[in-house]
Amino acid sequence: MSDLEKAESILREYKQEHIIKLIEKLDEEKKNELVGQILKIDFNQIHELYENTKKQIEFKEKKIEPISYLDKAKLSEEQTKKFNDIGREIIEKGEYAVVTMAGGQGTRLGHTGPKGTFKLDVYGKGKYLFEILTENLKEANKLYKTTIPWYIMTSKENNDVTKEFLEKNNYFGYDKNYVTLFAQGELPLVNTEGKLLIGKDMKIKEASDGNGGVFASLASTGAIADMKQRNIKWIFIGGVDNAILKMADITLLGMAEQNKVQIASKSVVKANPHEKVGVFCKCNGTPKVIEYSELPEKMAEEVDNNGELKYGESHIMCNLFTIDAIEKVSKETLMYHSAFKKNSYIDENGKEIVPEEPNSYKFEAFIFDAFEFFDDIAILRGKREDDFAPVKNKEGVDSPKTAKELYEKYWERQKNK
Ligand code: UD1
Repeated sequence: MSDLEKAESILREYKQEHIIKLIEKLDEEKKNELVGQILKIDFNQIHELYENTKKQIEFKEKKIEPISYLDKAKLSEEQTKKFNDIGREIIEKGEYAVVTMAGGQGTRLGHTGPKGTFKLDVYGKGKYLFEILTENLKEANKLYKTTIPWYIMTSKENNDVTKEFLEKNNYFGYDKNYVTLFAQGELPLVNTEGKLLIGKDMKIKEASDGNGGVFASLASTGAIADMKQRNIKWIFIGGVDNAILKMADITLLGMAEQNKVQIASKSVVKANPHEKVGVFCKCNGTPKVIEYSELPEKMAEEVDNNGELKYGESHIMCNLFTIDAIEKVSKETLMYHSAFKKNSYIDENGKEIVPEEPNSYKFEAFIFDAFEFFDDIAILRGKREDDFAPVKNKEGVDSPKTAKELYEKYWERQKNK
């Protein structure tokens, strides 16, 4: 059977005949490209993901409880010192690496280009998010007399632009030998009938597979092997859009090591029941984050006897993993979540359709779904003003304006310490 025949048989099996019609119209080169792409796609997986979009997320069957945490502000001096000593030693020994997930699109922010290339209007002349992260990491390097290896996850879509941007800016002074870019995976989009969409380039439209793709792509791109060679034991994984993200928090690191857990996370108290953050909980005894888009309203508003939100520990994308944990998760299949979005496509007559309403599903794995493969994780509650200045929306909450304020105030306080 030729590749073309194989591809057509798969398309028939999975009721994607509209693509067969398209293949017939393509020239030899485009045809080969599309056939090659089809043979790489796991149609069974896509079919299952599509079927799952018809099901409701059910928490009722599960036992959901609040999670325990330590409050950084309430640790005794002795405890803080102990954690800090342990954490500092790990970083100083060179056993610590940082991963920045920069594969997202930043659609909510309305910035075209990788989110890390967004300039935050701080201190007059402004700083790019990548620049801010670099400075924060360089600060840690100075403190712990080391150079922390830095791995940046891009998407297939933004990898080249990200690389060009960092090169052009000379990695904002970070030692290039310690920076590795790696691209995350993609999954096809499907419409409400489960049909794959075709893009302007006459290929099946695919999009990044969510930040949970970080584990598999760290493995497949050789980054885990590289970390092992460098003798890395602990890896911080954070986002690209928190202007005061602490990528080397020795208290969190020391606490994780001391508690003998494989994962530790920083949280902050949720600002209000409907803030767009995931919240930590325990689900059937294992740690979990319920994403804001999936949190039932009743749970979001539930309060405990002290009047505090029962599910009020926010996930701020500030997570630490041992290398063993990363390797373990990279071999597991994380669940996928679906998001209903607007995506343009080429119809059977070759015409581009730009929908005005959401028309298709995007499938994404979430980084925190890795938590449930572990019995326990350690959570350290930090402070919003010290740990969380997100740049998410164009205006209003979690916007460049609020992040600028938090960033400038944070550094003002550091200077006066
Ligand atoms: C995310 C968290 C949410 C948390 C909030 C805090 C997830 C699924 N949600 O929400 O629980 O409370 O941050 O700020 O993690 N990214 C990729 N590849 C992708 C998708 C995203 O690298 O395919 C990166 C983004 O570049 C960004 C980070 O992941 O650095 C967060 O992604 P985003 O989609 O902006 O998540 P939020 O909805 O803000």
